[in-house]
Amino acid sequence: VFVGFMGAGKTGAARAIAAELGVRPLDTDEALERDLGMPVERFFDSRGEPEFRMREEELVSKVLDEAQPGEVISLGGGSMSSRQVRDAVRRHRVLWLDVSLEDAWHRAAGRGRPLARDRDRFARLHAEREAVYAEEAHVMLPAGDRGMVRRALPSILALDEAPEATRLVWATSASGDYPVFVGEGLLASGFWPRAGRRFAVTDENVGALVGPLLAGCDGVVTLPPGERHKTIASAERVWRELAGAAMARGDDVVAVGGGVVGDLAGFCAATYQRGVSVVQCPTTLVAQVDSAYGGKTGVDLPEAKNYVGAYHQPSAVLVDPAVLASLPPAERAAGYAEVLKTALIAGGALWERVRAGAAGTEPEVVLACARTKLAVVSRDERDAGERQILNLGHTIGHAIETVTGYGRYRHGEAVALGLLAALRLSGQPELRDEVAELLANRGLPTRLDAGTDADAVLAATKRDKKRRSGASVPFVLVEAPGEVRPGCAVPDAEVLAAVTELAA
Ligand SMILES: NC(=O)c1ccc[n+]([C@@H]2O[C@H](COP(=O)([O-])OP(=O)(O)OC[C@H]3O[C@@H](n4cnc5c(N)ncnc54)[C@H](O)[C@@H]3O)[C@@H](O)[C@H]2O)c1
Repeated sequence: VFVGFMGAGKTGAARAIAAELGVRPLDTDEALERDLGMPVERFFDSRGEPEFRMREEELVSKVLDEAQPGEVISLGGGSMSSRQVRDAVRRHRVLWLDVSLEDAWHRAAGRGRPLARDRDRFARLHAEREAVYAEEAHVMLPAGDRGMVRRALPSILALDEAPEATRLVWATSASGDYPVFVGEGLLASGFWPRAGRRFAVTDENVGALVGPLLAGCDGVVTLPPGERHKTIASAERVWRELAGAAMARGDDVVAVGGGVVGDLAGFCAATYQRGVSVVQCPTTLVAQVDSAYGGKTGVDLPEAKNYVGAYHQPSAVLVDPAVLASLPPAERAAGYAEVLKTALIAGGALWERVRAGAAGTEPEVVLACARTKLAVVSRDERDAGERQILNLGHTIGHAIETVTGYGRYRHGEAVALGLLAALRLSGQPELRDEVAELLANRGLPTRLDAGTDADAVLAATKRDKKRRSGASVPFVLVEAPGEVRPGCAVPDAEVLAAVTELAA
């Protein structure tokens, strides 16, 4: 059952999927027009919205109650406002075509649609209904491309094999699409959405936790844990073990672990035989809310972090929030810093949930963070502009990691400090205080160790990869939650002051 806002393209998507499945699609708006005996707009204008909604609720509920397995149905955008319809739709597979406000307005305005005449009202309705679709959808697809809906079909059908509450987000980027499955119990369930042989890369801490997943693999490379092993030496070990196990094109590398394993295994997959598929199975909060998506892979050099790498989008991501239960508190806290960063970027419902005390490990919060990152990457895969907003707090965070030898702070802890510095540079003292309190509540550092060399941190920011030659390092600044600006020039003296304040 396709749901979504006006102008999302539900009818076209339903036709495309129905054609693939060899069935006839049913459009409830068309059925309703036949039932009303006039166009929806005319009934709406002559009899008013309440009567229209009553007739719509009656017809849509009946269609959903009588629907047989295998049918493809598209619902009118407003019908999900009815509780009765929501109760009925839940028994089916609900596919949300997610259209941005701008695109929806562009497509719907000026076409006689009664609810697309006033832009402010349209925007309010978009926000209200988005919350309903997000709650009910099993599958979240970006609107706009019928070919994409067809490509997603095997993953949509694969959901039948996944644990009950698993949801699917379809990720898009310039270099390719992939499914992101999010469900508790996913990694222990035996669910696997791909054909072909699998070769896992994991670390010593994680291997023991995901026995059934590794048992399904044709080979397992187990590395020592930690950032210090995100090196070219580890990559060589992985390449050679894959070669020794005769891994071939068409097989999958499976990255099972935190961001270190994900970045390293992704890099090995990008380069082994000039590129093989990688499936990311993130097991830390950092990896589930951030690093598993978007295709940045790589290793560190002693000179600077993440300095050697490649863009390589995963073939699929399997996210199981249940595995976070074994995460040590300090690692959970480190992940919380990325959750908070993502919430500041997203604003809206995610920010409100986080500032109200969410831990970040809740499946809905993990999902919302993943969707935030995926939406940014889909618009700018290669950091040409907008993607840089994901670097909020990272310019100084990475510099702190480098200066302290990658051993003193976890990545997320350094990001926590970097966020506070970025909020100072943004001239947001109240927001900085609020964020500092949220970080402190999770046991994250809000002060840099006394004695950390602020000049060295400043110097390390200048080696940031986002810097173009000759130009200053671009910082990401926050105007308000949900309003962040990439590419901001900041004088050295201010950066130094922000770092010195952290160490005060
Ligand atoms: N590629 C990207 O876009 C991106 C984004 C953010 C961060 N990163 C990278 O991610 C890395 C940090 O990732 P991380 O914080 O996940 O660190 P990590 O991979 O080192 O994992 C942290 C620790 O948790 C252990 N662990 C993992 N899963 C566990 C589980 N379920 N239960 C118990 N222990 C578990 C690991 O063995 C490790 O000791 C950094 O290298 C950072 O640069 C990359």
